[in-house]
Amino acid sequence: MSFNWWDAFLLAIGFLIIFFAYGYWESGYFKRRGMKNVPFELPILGNMFQHILGREHFMGAIYRVYDAFPNERYVGFMQVNRPFIMIRDLEIIKKTTIKDFDNFTSHILNIDENFDPIIGRNLLFITGDKWKDMRATVSPTFTSSKLRNMLSLVDQTGRQIADFYLDKMNEPEHKKRGFIEVEMADTLSRYTNDVIASTVFGLVVNSLTERKNEFYNMGVKTFDLGGVQLLKLIVYFAFPILIKISGVQFLGKNLREFFRNLVLGTMKNREKNGIVRPDMIQLLMEAWKGSLKYEGSHNEETDAGFATAEESTIGKRTVKRQWSENDIVAQAVIFFVAGYETSKTLLCFVFHELTVNPDVQKKLQIEIDELISEKGDALEYTDLMKMKYMDMVVCEALRMWPPVPGTDRKCLRSYKLPPPNDSTNEGYTLQAGEGIWIPICAIHHDPKYYPDPKKFDPERFSDENKGNIDPLSFIPFGSGPRNCIGSRYALTITKTIIFRILSKFDLVMIEKFFYHHKIRTYSISGK
Ligand code: HEM
Ligand SMILES: *[C@@H]1O[C@H](CO)[C@@H](O)[C@H](O)[C@H]1NC(C)=O
Ligand SMILES: *[C@@H]1O[C@H](CO)[C@@H](O)[C@H](O)[C@H]1NC(C)=O
Repeated sequence: MSFNWWDAFLLAIGFLIIFFAYGYWESGYFKRRGMKNVPFELPILGNMFQHILGREHFMGAIYRVYDAFPNERYVGFMQVNRPFIMIRDLEIIKKTTIKDFDNFTSHILNIDENFDPIIGRNLLFITGDKWKDMRATVSPTFTSSKLRNMLSLVDQTGRQIADFYLDKMNEPEHKKRGFIEVEMADTLSRYTNDVIASTVFGLVVNSLTERKNEFYNMGVKTFDLGGVQLLKLIVYFAFPILIKISGVQFLGKNLREFFRNLVLGTMKNREKNGIVRPDMIQLLMEAWKGSLKYEGSHNEETDAGFATAEESTIGKRTVKRQWSENDIVAQAVIFFVAGYETSKTLLCFVFHELTVNPDVQKKLQIEIDELISEKGDALEYTDLMKMKYMDMVVCEALRMWPPVPGTDRKCLRSYKLPPPNDSTNEGYTLQAGEGIWIPICAIHHDPKYYPDPKKFDPERFSDENKGNIDPLSFIPFGSGPRNCIGSRYALTITKTIIFRILSKFDLVMIEKFFYHHKIRTYSISGK
């Protein structure tokens, strides 16, 4: 059959009709249900159109929805082609994520085991009893008693970074100039990579000296969400059936085998040679055998800082369950996937703010110097966590630049929300499968909770002021039993490198370069 322009034309017309008919149906979604909503730009891409094209930061899209109806407690919007209800009201966030958690136990996106046998088994994506049991199995690995033992490993990487630049500083050329130019974002990403390699996988690397080491390359590949990976995710999100039919998988086979060999190989090696190291691999081995219990100390929940996310009773239970190899590998991988970008992003913003707010930097350096003159240079977990100004700075960075700008929950069964505003008594009834969205970044920037929200002001979190903060208005690690399991670990690794760099260097900005969330080029100079 020869190519026929007329057929092609009809096909194109047919496609457009379906596209816009689908869009028309979509646009009526909230109207049919009587909820205020933000009209979207294009069918299928919803309110995220500008963002997907790279013309708008994700937060921009979120603020537009959040700000559209200041008097509504919730409002509808489209994320790609899925309807979401953005919750603007702290009481309702509390109700849905904590009090009525049983009606909202999972996230909207569930990558299943067929799309990826490793990613699909991790804590973030599993559901139901399996999630409950896995949460309880691995939560003991993140308690402060475990992190206390781990700190020496974390600090080893921290010192490695500081020493690298101290050595550089001593080279004649830099000595004369008195400073080194450093792309901080790169340095902080290498630190985060190395500290996770060491404390999660038991692998000691130095990505500053071995710039092309295998672990770093694999990490970069895992997080390369450009091009094909992103497309796979969007298609999976919008039309999961297409992925199921095509049999496409998310991580490539290479990456999967790399992580499997790394985790299972290290475990075997440790068993065989009787090696014990205070890291996550060790703890996961114990958790796998079922010999790990949740041991929270008295003030467990706050001791890594004000931002620490509290573990619920679900995560504190003792469970007996057989886990497969893939189940365990999946958790190590999610600690990397969920911990790397987020912690690195937090660090980039902390260092950025310290650089543009020299008075804050100075004040923090004084606190660090005081600790060193009192206790010496060896860093202890308890001392690190007792540093008040350090915690205020980190909290304010988490408020102003939350690395995870929002989170969601899937409604499991029909659920009646409170009324959307004061002029009606009728609340919206969520249907099973509908999603609610919690706009962390928009709440953190709402002048109702934080006057002058664009100002970086650690004093908001001083002992005097933090009592006035509604806990639900500060949720960088989410809320309820499904909150971030790694908050204590994240605070530990970030505070350690802040401590190490600021104890030796001043940060000075030499060139400002903003593109979306990338921050580049600072100089650090000897103190
Ligand atoms: C500054 C760094 C981090 C931030 C801001 C952050 C933030 C978050 C947020 C907002 C959630 C969703 C919570 C919710 O829906 O209520 C989450 C979930 C999660 N995070 Fe983090 N996170 C960070 C670091 C880490 C680290 C270092 C790890 C692991 C080592 C980690 C592991 C996880 C896991 C496994 C979940 C899913 C928990 C579950 O569904 O049971 N995160 N994180
Ligand atoms: C309150 O919510 C109802 C139901 O969504 C809506 O019809 C009404 O316009 C809202 N009232 C105000 C004052 O916005
Ligand atoms: C949550 O689910 C329970 C159990 O099915 C149900 O009885 C309850 O009505 C739901 N909550 C609301 C507020 O709809």
